[in-house]
Amino acid sequence: MVRRLLAARAGVLTERVAALAGASVVVATALVRDGRVLAAQRSRPPELAGQWELPGGRVEAGESEPDAVARECREELGTDVRAIGRLGTDLPIAPGLLRVHRAEPAPGAAEPRALEHSALRWVGADELADLDWVAADRAVLADLTELLTGR
Ligand code: CDP
Repeated sequence: MVRRLLAARAGVLTERVAALAGASVVVATALVRDGRVLAAQRSRPPELAGQWELPGGRVEAGESEPDAVARECREELGTDVRAIGRLGTDLPIAPGLLRVHRAEPAPGAAEPRALEHSALRWVGADELADLDWVAADRAVLADLTELLTGR
C-alpha cells in the first residue's frame, strides 16, 4: 500500500519535471521609444494573423533571455535593442511561458522594419486598448500603461 502510494507520487513528480523540462520560454519585447511601445501585427498562423503582439519568440537552448530578445528583434525587426529588465509576471501560453522584457533601441539602431510581421505601430498609452492583441499579451496591457505613463 505504502509502496504503491510512493510509486504514484514518484510518477506525478516525474511528469511535472518532464513538463517543466519540455516547456518553452518565449520572450516578448516591450521596446519603448519616445513614450510609445512597438506593437507588431502577426502574419501567421491563420488563426492569429491580424492580431497584435509584442515582438519575440522562443528562447534557444543555452541562450539568455536578454540575448533572445536582442536576437528576435534583429530577426523580426532588423534592429538592435538592449533588454533592460522584466515587465510583469510569467504568463502561461500553449508552448510554456511568456516573459516580457523591457527594451530600448541600441545607440544608432536602424528604424524597425516588419520583416516577419504584416505591420508595425508605435503605440501610446492611450491607444493600447484600440489594438486587437493576442490573448497572452492582453494580460500585459496594465503593466504597459504604467510603463508608458510612469504611473
Ligand atoms: O517563431 P517562434 O516559434 O520562435 O516564436 P513565435 O511563433 O512568434 O511565438 C511562439 C509562441 O509564443 C506562439 O504560440 C505565440 O503565439 C506566442 N507568443 C505570444 O503569445 N505573445 C508574443 N508576444 C509572442 C509570442
